[in-house]
Amino acid sequence: MKWHLFINGQREEAAQYVTLYSPFSGNKIADVAHASEADTDAAIGAAESAAAEMAKLPAHQRSAILDKVANLLEKRKEELARVLAMEAAKPIKTARGEIARTIQTYKFAAMEASRIHGETVPLDAAPGGEGRIAFTMRKPLGVVAAITPFNFPFNLVAHKVGPAIAAGNAIVLKPAGQTPISSLVLAEIFQEAGLPDGALNVVPGPGSVVGEKLVRDPRVKAVTFTGSPAVGIAMKNKAGLKRVTLELGSNSALIIDKTYEITDELIDRCVLGAFSFSGQVCISIQRIFVHQNHYADFLHKFKAQVEKLVIGDPLDEDTDVSALISEKEVRRMEAWVESAVAKGAQVVTGGKLLNSRIFLPTILTNAPADEPVSCEEVFGPIVTVAPFANLEQAIEEVNHSRFGLQAGIYTNNIHSAMQAAEQLEVGGVMINDFPTFRVDNMPYGGVKESGFGREGVKYAVEEMTELKLISIKLK
Ligand code: SIN
Repeated sequence: MKWHLFINGQREEAAQYVTLYSPFSGNKIADVAHASEADTDAAIGAAESAAAEMAKLPAHQRSAILDKVANLLEKRKEELARVLAMEAAKPIKTARGEIARTIQTYKFAAMEASRIHGETVPLDAAPGGEGRIAFTMRKPLGVVAAITPFNFPFNLVAHKVGPAIAAGNAIVLKPAGQTPISSLVLAEIFQEAGLPDGALNVVPGPGSVVGEKLVRDPRVKAVTFTGSPAVGIAMKNKAGLKRVTLELGSNSALIIDKTYEITDELIDRCVLGAFSFSGQVCISIQRIFVHQNHYADFLHKFKAQVEKLVIGDPLDEDTDVSALISEKEVRRMEAWVESAVAKGAQVVTGGKLLNSRIFLPTILTNAPADEPVSCEEVFGPIVTVAPFANLEQAIEEVNHSRFGLQAGIYTNNIHSAMQAAEQLEVGGVMINDFPTFRVDNMPYGGVKESGFGREGVKYAVEEMTELKLISIKLK
C-alpha cells in the first residue's frame, strides 16, 4: 500500500517515498511519503489559511468534531489496534489499551473545547486601577506544529492534536518515521468528522528537513514535541519566540518503603511498569529502590514474574513483549548491559538478545549510578534494582538524575508519603503506585531535562492559547 501526504484536506503525492518495514518480522508494510521542505511549506501555508477559519469556529462545533472523531475511532478500534501492532510492534493487547485511551483523550478534548474561559481581574486592587471592569479571554495561537514519537502513535498524537483543535488552532503534524500510518489514518478520520480543510496536515519526513522547517518557520506559533532531550533542547534553541512544549526523557524510579509488604499486586505493577511495550515508554520503571528488609523477597518474586512474560509476535493475543523499534536499539541494549556488567552489575534475568530484533526482559543489580543503564534513559526492557537503608537515601538516589518526569513510592506511612511528595524532583509523584501511572486528563510533564510545559488536555489547551486582557473603563 502507498500512503501519501495529507495537506489541505486531501492526499498529496510526494516526490519521494520510503519503505516501511515491520520491526518484528522485517517484512514490508507500505511505501510512505517522505515530505520535502516544499511540502512542509505547503502544509504550513494550508494551516495558516485554515487557522483564520478555525479561530471563528464556535466552541460547540469544535467540540462536536472532536466527539465525532472519538466515535469514529471507537467504530474502527480493532483495525487501528492492528495498525499500531504492525507499525510499532506494540503487542496487540497493549495496542488495544492505547486505542481506548486515545478515544478517551479526544472525548476530554471535546469537553475542554466548550469550557475554555477567562476570569475577571480586580484591577482596583492597585491604586489607579479603580473604575474598571477587566477580564481575560483565551485566544488560539494560529498554527501549531506537533512532532510526535513512535511509542504512542495514536495517543501522544491525540494529546497534541486534541487540545490544538479544542483551542481553535490549525496543526501541522510530523509523525515519527516508524509510525506514520496511524497519523495518516487519523487525518482522514478528522476529515470525515467535518474538520475544515487545512486544519490538520500530516507530513511524515526527516527531522532535519520537516522538523527543521516547522521549528524555524515564523508562521508556526507553537511547537509541541515529545522525544529525546537532545532533539528537544536543539529545537528550543532554534524556536525563537515560539511557544515550545517539551516532553522529553526520563529514567523513572520507584521506591518500595520498609512499611510496604511485597504483595502479588505490587509485583505485577512492577512487571507492567518496567516491561510494558518493552520499556519504550517515557515513564517506564527504570530504577527500583527497595528497602533492605524486603530486597531479597522482592527480587525473588519479581524475577519469577518477569520470566513468565510471553515474548513473540505483536499480533499474537498472548504476547507481552515483542521487538524493539529497530535493531539499532537492540544493539544499544546489549552494549549498555555489557558496560554495566563490566563495571560490576549482575544480571538477574535476561541480559541478552533473543534475536536481532528482540532484547530479553532484563533485571540488573549492583548497577553503578553513573552507568548508562542507570543515568541515561534506557527506553528498553532493562530495569535496575537496588536496596536502601533509609528513605532519605532512596530519595537522594532518585533525585540523582538529569531527569524528573514522574516517580512512585509504595509506603504505608503517611509521613514517608508526604516526604516523598515534597522532596522528589519530578513533575508527578505517584503514592502507592508506579511512576508509569497516567490517565489522560491529569497534568503530565517533567522538570530538569525531562522538559517543560504540561500535557493532559486542559493543561495543553493553556499552552496552546494566548491570554488576552480586556479592561473597560467605566464612565
Ligand atoms: C510517554 O511515553 O511519554 C507517554 C506515556 C503514557 O502516556 O502513558
